[in-house]
Amino acid sequence: MGGAMDRPATYAVKSLGCQMNVYDGERMAETLEADGLTLAADPAAADLVVLNTCHIREKATEKVYSEIGRLKRADGSRPMIAVAGCVAQAEGEEIARRAKVDVVVGPQAYHNLPALVAKAAAGQVALDTGMPALSKFGALPARRRQGPSAFLTVQEGCDKFCTYCVVPYTRGAEISRPFAAILDEAKALLDAGAKEITLLGQNVNAWAEGERGLDTLIRALDALPGLHRIRYTTSHPNDMTEGLIRAHAEVEKLMPYLHLPVQSGSDRVLKAMNRSHTTESYLRILDRVRAARPDIALSGDFIVGFPGETEAEFAETLKLVEAVGYAQAFSFKYSPRPGTPAANMDNQVAPQVMDERLQRLQALLGRQQLAFNQASVGRRCEILLERPGRKPGQLVGKTPWLQSVHLETDTAIGDIVTVELLSAGPNSLAGKLFPGEGRGPVTDSDLDPGLRRGTERVAA
Ligand code: 5AD
Ligand code: SF4
Repeated sequence: MGGAMDRPATYAVKSLGCQMNVYDGERMAETLEADGLTLAADPAAADLVVLNTCHIREKATEKVYSEIGRLKRADGSRPMIAVAGCVAQAEGEEIARRAKVDVVVGPQAYHNLPALVAKAAAGQVALDTGMPALSKFGALPARRRQGPSAFLTVQEGCDKFCTYCVVPYTRGAEISRPFAAILDEAKALLDAGAKEITLLGQNVNAWAEGERGLDTLIRALDALPGLHRIRYTTSHPNDMTEGLIRAHAEVEKLMPYLHLPVQSGSDRVLKAMNRSHTTESYLRILDRVRAARPDIALSGDFIVGFPGETEAEFAETLKLVEAVGYAQAFSFKYSPRPGTPAANMDNQVAPQVMDERLQRLQALLGRQQLAFNQASVGRRCEILLERPGRKPGQLVGKTPWLQSVHLETDTAIGDIVTVELLSAGPNSLAGKLFPGEGRGPVTDSDLDPGLRRGTERVAA
């Protein structure tokens, strides 16, 4: 740990990894602001830099050390450095020793960040990787974050213990935040301008409070005026309840998109992964979801080269992908995580074999994604404008199916407009305001009710 230094006045947060880290990064920023710090105009000149790290796959720790190295300024000085997130949880003491960072704070302890910063400024060791019985959420300040699309953590941690996965060790046991606290946070986000809320959890569909499941929470959010879109991620196949599937048919604000990781198309591999579902049970769930919401866009996660995976087993994954037809998907080479059961399994797959399998899988998934986007051309749908495009006058928004659409428009970020989709690439589409150019924001009452779901086609 470093010696005594000035109390920082400005901060910057850099979040690596998943959406929950983005959310945690925002909450750490809000915590620091409540303590009197301000966001540094230039992150390179911040007095305090929070590195919010990810440990899910390889080279996580190396990445952290290289990020720390990069924080050194031209004159040899450096900011106060806080390492947060899952690497802090897993390897905090080691990092504190080797890299002489000032603060180490785990994902369940970051409500203590201001106190840790004060401790570090006084030259004391400031490490907190505790997993307190009381969740951090009650100790965090109110939400202040602004923007049209917001994340909201409703569930955290995991009790499933897939044999490859580090999450149960870094994020801890499954907890569900209280219903009332989630609704309060959603209202604060809406007051700050959010139009869309994505509910987050490592097993978001395991959220529960007594008899209430995630579908009840979604229906309660549906009733909030000002909220237009609801999404949730990431789900586990075993927690896909009938109620949640029904919500996809009945809740208009619930977007037609489901991220449901399967990881492998081989039942032997799934068993070795401790996934507790089969390819057959997974496909049956998707059938029910599709029956409830025929236009749903499906997404998944895949791991290639799990220990012992044979060519024939990998071919079963390709077959499953062919059977599903994904709109989007994420695929990774298996990466042994220290402390997980799979890291000690025999028959680790050779790196070249993994490379080659990943290429084949990604080529197939890429073709499916392009086909999905191409099938949307000619449709008209609502998009939520989220960010500036590459050229002046261009904005980028998201369709209900989570596709990015670029368009020329004089409307503003945060508006929901109806567009006609004109052309498609693998990662995004081009559209134009409907009807005609230059039309202002479309309100609910402007829309033909049949178009609200965005499934109409312009041309036959
Ligand atoms: N190796 C490769 N991929 C992994 N994932 C989780 N752990 C590992 C690992 N050890 C992937 C899974 C998970 C996603 C978030 O990351 O596909 O769904
Ligand atoms: Fe990891 Fe499996 Fe839990 Fe997902 S369900 S976080 S892959 S242990």
